[in-house]
Amino acid sequence: MKPSPRLSLNNGVLIDQLGFGLYKVPPSDAAGLVTMALEAGYRHFDTAAMYGNETGVGRGIGSLSSFVSPDGARGGSGEASPSLSREDLFVTTKLWNDDQGYDATLRAFDTSMANLGLEYVDLYLIHWPCPQRGLYAESYRAMETLYREGRARAIGVSNFQPAHLDRLLQTAEVVPAVNQIELHPWLQQEELRALHGELGITTEAWSPLGRGQVLQDPVVLGLAAAHGRSPAQIILRWHVQLGNVAVPKASSYARIRENLNVFGFTLDGAAMDALAGLERGFRTGSHPDTVN
Ligand SMILES: NC(=O)c1ccc[n+]([C@@H]2O[C@H](COP(=O)([O-])OP(=O)(O)OC[C@H]3O[C@@H](n4cnc5c(N)ncnc54)[C@H](OP(=O)(O)O)[C@@H]3O)[C@@H](O)[C@H]2O)c1
Repeated sequence: MKPSPRLSLNNGVLIDQLGFGLYKVPPSDAAGLVTMALEAGYRHFDTAAMYGNETGVGRGIGSLSSFVSPDGARGGSGEASPSLSREDLFVTTKLWNDDQGYDATLRAFDTSMANLGLEYVDLYLIHWPCPQRGLYAESYRAMETLYREGRARAIGVSNFQPAHLDRLLQTAEVVPAVNQIELHPWLQQEELRALHGELGITTEAWSPLGRGQVLQDPVVLGLAAAHGRSPAQIILRWHVQLGNVAVPKASSYARIRENLNVFGFTLDGAAMDALAGLERGFRTGSHPDTVN
């Protein structure tokens, strides 16, 4: 299976276009799923303080050594390289809403690092802007400190609307590398994606499969049948061709592998147009203006 291509963030840090999402993964399952995803070929993991599973994610990452048998041969049944190390991975975590503010952000980061058992994170995101708290610019200033100290290789935001980005950019010294937003064929965020393009911010899709609901769309099902691929593969291929980063979550080894196996086919213009026509403003999660 082909590995995920990497995109360059605005500071030159490389990110795998497809990563593995860990929302709603119980803490007790996280290590096992991360290990499984590593075996399947994922190198990019998306967690958050709010998910309550950073410790398990860290344990899964710590299982890297289990791929190396004493004679140096591959220990796992999958495709993980025996020489895989921390530098080969891309780990994202996020600042929770209750921890916004300059000092609180620094403390929350330390807690996340201790939970993950890591020295640095590849990407640290503000989980939600929480506009009524009025603290995201201060929180971001703390993240800039972490960035300058090398404890976060890249920093960014999540669920930021254009107005939140405008406000942030009035004081930010580091342009966010990423805005992670709900994005799938039923919520295509065209305007926001265009703004990201102008600002040099990478678009990352959360709930890239619409929490599984978009898999039932008749157009997606038709394209799946026509291409001999699964509905999930059609949607993830669409994300890849749009240039999005996407972090699908799945619970079985078969689905985990299936979701990464999208680099051996392409969708032509007609198929991309058909998917573009599915926009319906459908959110599986909250509107960012309402989360505080
Ligand atoms: N920044 C934010 O505010 C935010 C919010 C939400 C999510 N996220 C991130 O985005 C990640 C993904 O979002 P998500 O978990 O909400 O939704 P998703 O990835 O769009 O969809 C996951 C759902 O699709 C199912 N699924 C996955 N692959 C499948 C396949 N090949 N065939 C059939 N069904 C499949 C999964 O079922 P099974 O699990 O049963 O396999 C699960 O029910 C999260 O894990 C998290 O990392 C971020």
